[in-house]
Amino acid sequence: MRPRHRITIHWRQENRTISHDVPEGDYILRSFELQGDPLPFSCRNGCCTSCAVRVLDGSIDQREAMGLSRELRRQGYGLLCVARATGPLEAETQDEDEVYELQFGRHFGRGSVRSGLPLDEE
Ligand code: FES
Repeated sequence: MRPRHRITIHWRQENRTISHDVPEGDYILRSFELQGDPLPFSCRNGCCTSCAVRVLDGSIDQREAMGLSRELRRQGYGLLCVARATGPLEAETQDEDEVYELQFGRHFGRGSVRSGLPLDEE
């Protein structure tokens, strides 16, 4: 039988703290759902950052988190939809779009795309 790890999530927007024991290697978001506590998500593929959290204590295996830069992982952010339990964890939900803005906001500050033409032909 696989070991189980105590995972605690502070869901700041809902003012709730939820804890469940998650079998080692299982996806945390999915395990919480199966135990009756669905957390925020959208794509479920590690791309959109809707499920992002800040890790307060512990670590996760999130090698499938395509939508999270190495720098943001280093800063302690994680994507729960593709995060597997590897040990006890305490984390809190992000501010709305916090990770999305940190990761992509600087690119959108340059204005929208106008056409498919090269810049000197517009
Ligand atoms: S739900 Fe989209 S990255 Fe997790």
